[in-house]
Amino acid sequence: MDAILSQLPDTLPQWYRSCARDLPWRHTKDPYRIWVSEIMLQQTRVEAVKGYYARFLSALPTIADLARCDDDALHKLWEGLGYYSRVRNLKKAAQVIVSEYGGVFPREHSVCLSLPGIGPYTAGAICSIAFDSPTPAVDGNVLRLVSRLTDDPTPIDAPGTKEKVTNMLAAVYPGEAGTFTQALMELGATLCGPNRPPECGLCPCSGFCLGFRRGTAQTLPVKKAKKEKRREEKTVFIFRCQGAYALGKRGDTGLLAGLWEFPNVPGRLEQGDALRQAEEWGVEPTELKKIIHRKHIFTHIIWEMEGVFLEVSRKDSRFVWLTPEELEQSAALPTAFRQFWEEERHV
Ligand code: ADE
Repeated sequence: MDAILSQLPDTLPQWYRSCARDLPWRHTKDPYRIWVSEIMLQQTRVEAVKGYYARFLSALPTIADLARCDDDALHKLWEGLGYYSRVRNLKKAAQVIVSEYGGVFPREHSVCLSLPGIGPYTAGAICSIAFDSPTPAVDGNVLRLVSRLTDDPTPIDAPGTKEKVTNMLAAVYPGEAGTFTQALMELGATLCGPNRPPECGLCPCSGFCLGFRRGTAQTLPVKKAKKEKRREEKTVFIFRCQGAYALGKRGDTGLLAGLWEFPNVPGRLEQGDALRQAEEWGVEPTELKKIIHRKHIFTHIIWEMEGVFLEVSRKDSRFVWLTPEELEQSAALPTAFRQFWEEERHV
């Protein structure tokens, strides 16, 4: 057992009870609610998640509701959160829970881990927070915290680091596992948070933190060099015809699968080529309103987009033509394309 980490159960839960942020998913032991919160919180900030969390659970209060929700409605509930495969996996796992486990979330960690979209982090979080199992949930925040506490310069993204830290923490888990998991996350997200110096003066662990004692906490964690993101250029068309807008549905695989999009082609077209493309699609452009540049950053790719806003006189049937109300109410338009809609709506 690690001598530093073994001191955490005596300090962290007490600190958590008096200092933690009051967050909506901290008022429940319902595994479904905890699961939804953890999936939303992967890659998305706490403040941004709050509204989505309340809306999602009021629309789909049970696992059975999620299992039978249609994909368009589901995408709409997730619109703007990004990483849409997360919500498709959430539904797939809900269907497994309904068909295999009578709609009751499984308590065993290994069963939880076998569900679509549930990896070691999420399984650890749900089983510890909902069922008080000694199963750590190790994300970037917890890795940073442990690397500082133990003054460990091993890159946190090196193969095996996450497993090693998971095992070290599992060995010191106290009975109140849920509080302990949340306290680790909370300290790693706040006083020992990312992209700023740690606030060791306020930290409940400064008495035994090696990084603090040796003055290395500020320089940790170590990370391997990041890969450059690939850049892709696109020309995106915002066609308006009698107040309706042309949209298409993306294919069933790849980036943003199954979501809506404005018509687009690869590459950055010059004005003349853009008009020719519109004519080729049979929409008969009558006025070029403007061209604006926007970008959207995904995990591995950056889209550099030219948005071409055109008034057109023919609703070619290769597109679906939606009124602004239909677009707002029922079509999930991912943020990459929504930027152009925001621009159109606010002129
Ligand atoms: N980040 C990931 N999980 C979290 C949680 N349960 N509370 C706050 N931030 C989180």
